[in-house]
Amino acid sequence: MSVNVAVVGATGAVGDLIRKVLAERDFPIKSIKFLASEKSAGKAVEFAGESYTVELIRPEAFEGVQIVLSSTPGSVSKEFSPIAVKAGAIVVDNSSAWRMDPDCPLVVPEVNAHELHNIKKGIVANPNCVAIPLCVALKPLHDLAQVKRIVVSTYQSSSGKGAKGLLDFNAQLSAWAAGKPVPAPTAHRAQLAGNVITLDWALDPNGFTEEENKVINETRKIMGDQTIGVCPTCVRVPVKVAHSEAITVEFARPLSVADAKAALAKAPGVVFMDETKGEFPQPLLAEGSDHTFVGRVRQDPSNPNALCLWVVADNLRKGAASNAVQCAEELVKRGIVK
Ligand SMILES: NC(=O)c1ccc[n+]([C@@H]2O[C@H](COP(=O)([O-])OP(=O)(O)OC[C@H]3O[C@@H](n4cnc5c(N)ncnc54)[C@H](OP(=O)(O)O)[C@@H]3O)[C@@H](O)[C@H]2O)c1
Repeated sequence: MSVNVAVVGATGAVGDLIRKVLAERDFPIKSIKFLASEKSAGKAVEFAGESYTVELIRPEAFEGVQIVLSSTPGSVSKEFSPIAVKAGAIVVDNSSAWRMDPDCPLVVPEVNAHELHNIKKGIVANPNCVAIPLCVALKPLHDLAQVKRIVVSTYQSSSGKGAKGLLDFNAQLSAWAAGKPVPAPTAHRAQLAGNVITLDWALDPNGFTEEENKVINETRKIMGDQTIGVCPTCVRVPVKVAHSEAITVEFARPLSVADAKAALAKAPGVVFMDETKGEFPQPLLAEGSDHTFVGRVRQDPSNPNALCLWVVADNLRKGAASNAVQCAEELVKRGIVK
């Protein structure tokens, strides 16, 4: 079955990759259109070797569309996703607008694809770019020993702030490397070149950032267990693409390093990297991949029921575009899209 697709926010950092990933994975397309704001309407974008004109987002643009892949600010999704659903489409949305809505499944196909059969509002939420690889890596271990508590520190790339983040960082980096005065940050909260920033997101009243609260709430929803404890510290680092995560995970039962490594080596979506062979996950290796790279698996010396691991994934691909396209593939494969 091939379907009519609309890519909304097609000109952004995530939308750009959605176009690439749809073509790479040979998504079954009957027709495709690309939508954005008036800023980009009329511009040309490339898809599968052909040029398409970006259309202005408006209600009529969704007529006849079966799947919408949306990557806009949350406020735009709040307005237009229900309009697309009313026109008959299922929306897979990359913003945070619908993630905690109890009527919208929050899906990582390797973890909870079955939730796609329960789309009450016609909207599937694509999770946060830290929560996705965290859950891909921990699900096979959860199945063996039941995750009780996660402590995670992140090393998040500039592209997590979208196209504007990358422009900001590139301008800073070239000036910094040339020994010239570094321009003031425009997207990031402080200079990122030669620095790390732990307040690159808005602060919530509980003292955690918005990003950290997303990691807490979304991880529990994806794993389907509200009792899992999650304690994150999210940090922006001077890397262009791919987020890294240092994870300590406590289980209900002891889990040996050998059993954890064996489970990770055959887990869907995971590339297990064995440090005894000199392999270790790195952003530069993960960039451009749809996989979650896991390595440095070791026993927590302070807790017999806990393991430590290091996880890296491309935030724009597995953390956003590829996960969304995988959800769309499942919607077609499972006959959910009519
Ligand atoms: N970057 C990541 O790592 C990442 C990961 C997971 C989720 N997300 C989420 O995905 C979404 C997109 O992120 P991004 O990084 O791709 O941002 P981005 O690079 O800033 O792109 C935003 C896109 O939304 C479009 N847009 C903005 N305002 C619009 C409007 N009023 N009407 C229609 N289209 C509009 C833009 O079109 P114009 O060209 O017309 O402005 C552009 O195509 C955000 O909600 C973000 O939180 C991002």
